Amino acid sequence: MSEPVANQDIETLFSEQRRYPPPPEFTKQANAQPEVYGKGLEEFWREEGEQRVTWSRPFDKVYEWEPPYAKWYIGGKLNVCYNCVDRHVEAGNGDKVAFYWEGEPSEERRPLSFAELQSQVVRFANGLKKLGVKKGTPVGIYMGMVPELPVAMLACTRLGAPHTVVFGGFSADSLSGRMTDMGCEVLITQNEGWRRGSRVPLKKTCDEAMAQAPSIKACVVYRRTDGEVNMEAGRDVWWDELLQDTSDDPNSCPCEEMDSEDLLYLLYTSGTTAKPKGIVHTTAGYLVGVATTHHYIFDVKPDSVYWCAADVGWVTGHSYIVYGPLCNGTTGILYEGTPDYPDKDRWWSIIERYKVDILYTAPTAIRSHMKWGPEHARKHDLSSLRVLGSVGEPINPEAWVWYHENIGGGRCPVVDTWWQTETGMILITPLPGVTTLKPGSATQAFPTVDAAVYNEHGEAVPHGGGGYLVIRQPWPAMLRGIHRDHERYVQTYWSKYKDTYLVGDGARVDEDGDFWLLGRIDDVMNVSGHRISTIEVESALVDHPKVAEAAVCGRNDPATGQAIVAYVTLKGGDEGSPEMLSELRTHVGQRIGKFAAPANVVFTPELPKTRSGKIMRRLLRDVAENRALGDTTTLADPTVVDELSRRGREEAAKGDA
Ligand code: PRX
Repeated sequence: MSEPVANQDIETLFSEQRRYPPPPEFTKQANAQPEVYGKGLEEFWREEGEQRVTWSRPFDKVYEWEPPYAKWYIGGKLNVCYNCVDRHVEAGNGDKVAFYWEGEPSEERRPLSFAELQSQVVRFANGLKKLGVKKGTPVGIYMGMVPELPVAMLACTRLGAPHTVVFGGFSADSLSGRMTDMGCEVLITQNEGWRRGSRVPLKKTCDEAMAQAPSIKACVVYRRTDGEVNMEAGRDVWWDELLQDTSDDPNSCPCEEMDSEDLLYLLYTSGTTAKPKGIVHTTAGYLVGVATTHHYIFDVKPDSVYWCAADVGWVTGHSYIVYGPLCNGTTGILYEGTPDYPDKDRWWSIIERYKVDILYTAPTAIRSHMKWGPEHARKHDLSSLRVLGSVGEPINPEAWVWYHENIGGGRCPVVDTWWQTETGMILITPLPGVTTLKPGSATQAFPTVDAAVYNEHGEAVPHGGGGYLVIRQPWPAMLRGIHRDHERYVQTYWSKYKDTYLVGDGARVDEDGDFWLLGRIDDVMNVSGHRISTIEVESALVDHPKVAEAAVCGRNDPATGQAIVAYVTLKGGDEGSPEMLSELRTHVGQRIGKFAAPANVVFTPELPKTRSGKIMRRLLRDVAENRALGDTTTLADPTVVDELSRRGREEAAKGDA
């Protein structure tokens, strides 16, 4: 087992020297200018609060900080739906497209204007009212990527009803646990969804979940496919039937006036074994935080076509598909399916069709595209792209450079954005047009964000050093706690250092003060007394021209404490060979040092990942130690570990021979 970081800082070994200064033509037109870094916390967020959001009552005070709880925009009143929808229609932008929706079956697509969005939201909010939903009623949402998902979220915010969206890949148990924890009274779903050509039985999962979640009194079912589902009389109602005779006149369902600190939503973070935490996000600080970061970090223009290719069920989708972009009146893409359906060029065909200028995705997706090869992107005109983004995991420098060259044509700044469900908004990121980019580094804290890297004793490590990432000042979209669990909130985030938010990630700061994220702190290995982060060895492996993806972990070793086991996927579906193995060991030895060369290499066509695309190193450790596998319920594809265990055993047997 790898130990958590104990008494020493994390050693940092992998050095990436490539630099990409901002192109001058980009700088000239950029939303962010260097001056944004010069403002104080209160000044910056007062100005943003005044200009990004329409208030029905202005706030009296920017923030109050009584650790570990902050309040923002105190005294202000506003409504999120009004800000994301109604005000754009009132301003004469009703015809502007809010979302271009692409169904997975490729013949299905439709644009949704802000006026149409308003009409659908008003009708659905009126429908929810019929079911007794009002200010404060908790509502659960379990859907795929259909326009009705943001419609449902916005209808909740119109009524002042807090929601929790549960990603459509979660099991009935995960769903019922969340429904019960929040006390949801209504659950909104669809009969079935589409994923890689197969039907996802969403309503059926809801039925199983509702059997264990007695708080739910009503279930609204959107009809996405022609699939039959069980409808329980008195509880289940079809979306279209609920909407019969409902008005779409905005005055028939005025936006509820909410306090800045009223609950907007809970989003559960899927812990690996422990009970998920209901992360609390409130209204004004969250909305201002996501709209502001969206504006500066993605350089969004009034005519932009912006695509965040995440799922709305994750925080990335909440903040950067729904609330941030809609608050800014931005045209977005909503795509229902997977990147390889029906073919591996699906994403690039979407970019070409809608002339997308901003693409925001995750390293796992970029590495998949890398594995499939750049020829799929070459079939399409991607010249509309201006800005590329990455989120969710550290991005290996080679994947960054591949993305920059093959997707961005070498001209688009890549913003590697670091944040969490808990932070609500991006906190560490380059600003395009301002920041000199370094592949693999999230570079600088967003203006006013006080990020630092601490050692065990709560001292900032000097430049060049590694340790625990912390945030020392509040920010507007920060979590307001864990739902009904103050103790756990304090214990998880606020007990290691006084009045300082413990992120749970390792990081290093380089000589220029730029941040390099090193993954979760329990992913650190200890080899012969060197504390090495998994990401650095992985990046050294991916740096080899034949490697598409790599994950490493430590296993117990009598000689070195831990030895490194690497799981490697080769490009173009190649199988590994003994020659390749020694080539990779030499390569890591050259990039980092001989002690970091993997003791074992397991070649595998797939790595085990969570449904949000993060590599599950805990399972890799189990495989490496030949242990019974721990909880695999959050795995996207459980068959991957069986195959890995088999290959792992083969590899170990070779070692014994
Ligand atoms: O470990 C960090 C990693 O993802 C974690 C947060 O996960 P989640 O709450 O699911 O939110 C993901 C989307 C915001 C972080 O603690 N992470 C996220 N972005 C990056 C990252 N690691 C390195 N670089 C990033 N850009």
